[in-house]
Amino acid sequence: MNFKWVLSLLIIFSAIVLIGCKVMAQQGVNEEKANMSDKKSLIVYYSYSGNTEALAKRIQLKTKGDIFKIETIEPYPTSYNEVVEQAKKEKASDFRPKLKSKVENINDYDVIYIGTPVWWYTMAPAVKSFITENDMKGKTIIPFCTHGGGGASSTFTDIAKLLPESTVKKGFVAYENTASDNDITEWLESVK
Ligand SMILES: Cc1cc2nc3c(=O)[nH]c(=O)nc-3n(C[C@H](O)[C@H](O)[C@H](O)COP(=O)(O)O)c2cc1C
Repeated sequence: MNFKWVLSLLIIFSAIVLIGCKVMAQQGVNEEKANMSDKKSLIVYYSYSGNTEALAKRIQLKTKGDIFKIETIEPYPTSYNEVVEQAKKEKASDFRPKLKSKVENINDYDVIYIGTPVWWYTMAPAVKSFITENDMKGKTIIPFCTHGGGGASSTFTDIAKLLPESTVKKGFVAYENTASDNDITEWLESVK
């Protein structure tokens, strides 16, 4: 066998190995994609003045999950000062308001995004009610919140404390309604 033959065989062999690796890598990517889409997700949120609702809807558009709005039977006062005062008292007494409706099929979901405005450095009481009323043991919880300038404060750590038997992922924080599309997408990628 002369040198040219050996070289040609080597090139053909390398090409076969390279193509094989590429096909296997693509199969891995496809399997991962299939696994992700097998996971059913739900976006649950409470919103008093609309910021968290807007963020929840953007997350829903990107994840194609189902969406559920938490609502209290007793509406909160429309006056900002009054709701701030009421929420302060509710936090102090660890009050959990009664909710209008339930997610009937919570067991169908593997991943639950939970959104809340920051109220007095933590989640809104209605979100506490939702978490305590629903069994989310073993599920992946992905929190998000909107705030008025003070950041997430204890919101995510308090959510994680209420869900010791769930996997609570990194939360997304936005100042009021200012989240950029890019930041939402990057965060969603990071919590996959
Ligand atoms: C009762 C109450 C308490 C709040 N407490 C905080 C707070 O502790 N820190 C903060 O940064 N913003 C606080 N805010 C501002 C809200 O977190 C912010 O406006 C949020 O984006 C509202 O979300 P929403 O429009 O979905 O209700 C509070 C607002 C209300 C009504």
